Amino acid sequence: MATREIVTLPDPVLRQKARKVPAVTEDIRTLIDDMVETMRAAPGVGLAAPQVGDSRRVIVVEYAEPPEQEGEPARPPKLFTLVNPEIVRRAPDQVKGVEGCLSVPGYLGEVERFESITIKGLNRAGLPVRIKAAGWLARIFQHEIDHLEGTLFIDRAEEVWKGEEKEIESIAAD
Ligand code: NI
Repeated sequence: MATREIVTLPDPVLRQKARKVPAVTEDIRTLIDDMVETMRAAPGVGLAAPQVGDSRRVIVVEYAEPPEQEGEPARPPKLFTLVNPEIVRRAPDQVKGVEGCLSVPGYLGEVERFESITIKGLNRAGLPVRIKAAGWLARIFQHEIDHLEGTLFIDRAEEVWKGEEKEIESIAAD
C-alpha cells in the first residue's frame, strides 16, 4: 500500500465524469488499498478515485457511527470500499449539513442531502453489495458519488465560506 497525492481544484480530473470499472482486477484492488491509506493519512472519512487523479468509479468511506445514547462508548469505524456505486433509492427527506472536501482545502459549505439512501455496487472482491445508509454516513456516500460525476460540494452549497482551522478539524473532511 502507498499513499497517493490528493489533487485539488482546479485540477480538471475533478470535473470529469469517471469511467465505469469493467472488472475488479488486481489493479483496482491496489487503487482501493492506496485510497484507504490516503484517506486515513489525510485524515478524511471518504475519498473518490478522481481525488487521487484516477478517473474511475471507485470510492472508499470510513466512518464511526455515533453512539446511540449519550455516555455509550464510540463505535468502531466501518470501512466501505465500493466500485461502480449507484444510488438506487433515496428517501424523500433532505437535510442540511456542513461539508468540506480534501480537494477544496480550506472551504466549508452547507449542503442539502437525502437523509437516507440505498446504494449498490461491487465490493473489493468484485461481489455485488447493497448498503443502506442514513444520516452522516448517507451524506458521505452522496458526497463521494458526486465526485464520480465531476460534482463538488461547492456546486450544491448555497453558501461557501473559508473555514477556520479549528472548525475544519472538527468537521470530518471528505
Ligand atoms: Ni470531497
